[in-house]
Order: sequence, then C-alpha cells, then structure tokens
Amino acid sequence: MQHYTNINDLDSLKKTVEEAVELKKNELQFKNLGKDKTICLLFFNNSLRTRLSTQKAAQNLGLNAIVMNFGSEGWELEFDDGVVMNKNKSEHVKEAAKVIAQYSDIVAIRAFASLTDKEKDKAEIVIENFKKYSGIPVLNMESATGHPLQALADAITMEENKVSHKPKVVLSWAPHPKALPHAVANSFIEMMQLQDADFIITHPEGYELDSEITKNSKIEYNQKKAFENADFVYVKNWSSFKEYGEVMKSDSDWMITADKMKLTNNGKFMHCLPVRRNVVVADEVIDSENSIVIQQANNRTYSAQIVLKKILENL
Ligand code: CP
Repeated sequence: MQHYTNINDLDSLKKTVEEAVELKKNELQFKNLGKDKTICLLFFNNSLRTRLSTQKAAQNLGLNAIVMNFGSEGWELEFDDGVVMNKNKSEHVKEAAKVIAQYSDIVAIRAFASLTDKEKDKAEIVIENFKKYSGIPVLNMESATGHPLQALADAITMEENKVSHKPKVVLSWAPHPKALPHAVANSFIEMMQLQDADFIITHPEGYELDSEITKNSKIEYNQKKAFENADFVYVKNWSSFKEYGEVMKSDSDWMITADKMKLTNNGKFMHCLPVRRNVVVADEVIDSENSIVIQQANNRTYSAQIVLKKILENL
C-alpha cells in the first residue's frame, strides 16, 4: 500500500482487521520495522485520540515521529496555482510538501472540511496536494471527506464484539450545537459497504449525506424503527450536506437514550469521540456496559499501526 487516504485503499478490509486483532496481542512484534525512518504528523485541526494513537502506533513500529500543530504553528498555506500571494498566505503547498518530504519518509495529515466551500472540500485539496508534491506516502488522519483510520478502528471493534448472526448495524445522526463535518459518517458508511451486515442509516430529513458515498445504503427517517433489533448503534452528528455546513436541527428528540437502546437487540453503543454527554447521548447509555467507546478509542492505535506497517513494507 502506498497511501492510506480511504478505507478502499486496503486490499482487504477483512484480512486487515484480522491482522490488527493479531497485532494487538503483541503490539511490539514489529518494533524494528520502522527503524531509522521518520513520520511527520501534521495537524491543521485539534485532536486527542488521533494524535496520541498515531504517535504511539509509529513508536510501536520503531518509527521516529515528529508532530507539528500546523494549523497554529505553521505558515498558512496557499493551495491554488498562479495566485499573487500578497495576502495572508505565506507559503505555497508546492514548497511546503517538498520540504517536509526531505525530513520524513511518511507524512500523516489531519485537515478538516471548511464546511463553506463544498467543491474544495470534495476535492480534498490538502491531502491531494500533499500526495502530488511530497512524493512520499500520505496517511489520512481525518480529511475533509473521510476518517479512514477511525473506520478501520470501528471495524476492529465490531469484530471483537461480533454476534453469531449477520449483524444489524445502524448509523444514527444525533443532535449537536455546532456544525460538524461528514468525514466520520462517510468513512463508516464506506467501511460498512464492505461488510456482510444489515446496514441502515437514520437521520432527520434534510441531513442526507453525499449520495456518491451512501450509494445504495438503506436510509430510514424513523430513528426508533431503525433501532429495532440493532446489534450495533453507531452515533455521529453531521451538518447538512445539501445546505452545506448548516445546522438545521439541534433539539434533543434525536439524542440517544436508554429507552431507544431498549429497542435494540441488546445493541452496543459506538461513537468515535469526543462526544457531548446529554446532547448526543444520555449518560445512562454511554456509561452502560453496552457502551464500547473506550475500546473503539483503544483500537485507534492498532488501526494506525497495521496501516503504517503496510506502508513501511512497501517503502
Ligand atoms: N475520533 C477522533 O478522531 O478523535 P480526535 O478528534 O480526538 O482525534
């Protein structure tokens, strides 16, 4: 594997999940694979899990990790060609990507959607320009349209909690006061489209995601109906895609409560975190024994590590 910017960059999701589960049993078994190699982790946006788990994964493979809060500490980058750079942007991505590539063997990038320019967000200008100009493998730590390391961690977590029948998995929208990106939901959908599962997306009307991502996935506008007999309930807020970046509904009737979880088949509650308690999910649900959010966060290390292992083996 050269780059990992989408879950579909994996040759096989099933095999990768199995390899990650094995890796987790002895996380230092490949501790010399990245010896004398360096990864630069560039954060254009905040993070807890992604930053710490990706750095830990790199260290577990013997990689030297350099972490930079690019959004607050780097020069503001220009991505358009032919621009007279006489405003606030001090450096062009053409130079920045080539310079960073001299210091590292892999570059990992977190750069969220603007939620103001749909076309630029869809074009993935940060990830794609780093791919184009750095000449080294690029790892997506959440981009404008996807969070494939999270989706792989989610797949590992579902494998560890698998049921004996074809599972019913629900992706449910939940309220949030701020406009959030579509990346986590998009990658979860793309990952579920690779699984043998009864998969349903539920959200209020007007919150339809990009149809190029959802494709033929089932959509149910009645949240309670969607929850019936679910084995896994994956919860995430996202802003409107049609009215790009708008928050059209924030009242609590879509919050995940114990009463709603009672409709499920003793279903597991999943969320990528961070989560706003008693806005997105009631305390009684996230604190219940069916909540597997901490296990999901733990598996971020192994999703990053198995992906970095594959990239290192291809260097
Ligand atoms: N789930 C996730 O990506 O968490 P952070 O934003 O804290 O990295």
